[in-house]
Amino acid sequence: MTKKASITAVGHYLPKRILSNYELEKTLDTSHEWIKSRTGIVERHIVGDNEATSDMCINSAQEILNKTKLNPKEIDVIIVATVTPDMFFPSTAALVQNAIDAKNAWAFDLSAACSGYIFSLETAAGLIASSKHQKILVIGADTMSSVIDYEDRSTCVLFGDGAGASLVQATNGEYGIMDSILYTDGRGANKLYIPGGGSHQPTSKKTVDQRLHYVKQDGREVYKSAVRGMVDASEIILKKNGLSAKDLKLFIPHQANKRIIEASAKRLGLNKDQVLVNIDKVANTTAGTIPIGLSEAVLNKRLEKGDLLLLSAFGAGFTWGAMLIRWGKCI
Ligand code: ACO
Repeated sequence: MTKKASITAVGHYLPKRILSNYELEKTLDTSHEWIKSRTGIVERHIVGDNEATSDMCINSAQEILNKTKLNPKEIDVIIVATVTPDMFFPSTAALVQNAIDAKNAWAFDLSAACSGYIFSLETAAGLIASSKHQKILVIGADTMSSVIDYEDRSTCVLFGDGAGASLVQATNGEYGIMDSILYTDGRGANKLYIPGGGSHQPTSKKTVDQRLHYVKQDGREVYKSAVRGMVDASEIILKKNGLSAKDLKLFIPHQANKRIIEASAKRLGLNKDQVLVNIDKVANTTAGTIPIGLSEAVLNKRLEKGDLLLLSAFGAGFTWGAMLIRWGKCI
């Protein structure tokens, strides 16, 4: 019988330093009112000096190790979903593997921007189904403050830093990942991207002068595509499984903009209690949003064994998708 993958423990980490809209007002032609009304964001966490993506991953993984008392040598694989690795190489996952002493794990990063966590969960589920792996650590983390232009008001107000981790285990039971539907459409590549610093335009004085190492986006196009992508994927997966919105205990959407979340929830026919929103305090942490939301949901007892959970994400690529989970025992 094919093994199913179930999330059995979660953890998250948000850096201590908080950057409020009011602070941004001091250096930028913007206002708290504009940011809050257009995005729902009030504040975001930003890494401290010498703190990078791997540090946030390690902290969120450590929470899981502390809670479960799992011997890290039992972890078979570590997947870190990120677009802001500590360095081009080695992978951030390799740094995490060393730091938590997961000697027997092979480890790699996965790049799918804001959809990175659900793409990684799907990868973990496939590795578990192969029967070669039992315990997989899936982490979504991004240090967006390292790639955003704090002089560009149309992007810098949207993002924060953070990480969320999940322990995914093989199970024979009825709980775990039920289904997923994932998409990529590379025609959206130039709607949300970092043009410089890669092999296409290697870092040079010119790329730095032109600020090409920062996030660029077509905000309106991303907004429209995100609502369409998250709603369509959610509707398709529910219909495919003979379910409707009322069957869901919780919907955890990628946190890009409160208006995107509200528009998606409305179109899906979900009530407020069914939707997790933390964008006001956390902002958009890219691959971090969904695992941080999951960890908060468990902490706040919004998920119990047997509940039906829907995750949905949209991000650069474009990448997007939805995942249905029958929630099992999870700490
Ligand atoms: N403060 C004040 N004014 C601003 C700011 C700001 N921080 N940012 C933009 N403006 C201005 C614009 O310059 C524009 O001025 P203009 O009319 O004089 O040109 C005006 O506000 C209106 O701009 P719009 O683009 O129409 O504003 P909109 O209501 O669309 O909101 C936003 C912009 C928030 C970027 C929205 O389009 C959005 O959220 N898009 C999604 C982008 C996103 O989430 N990207 C993150 C990564 S992708 C993902 O996670 C799915």
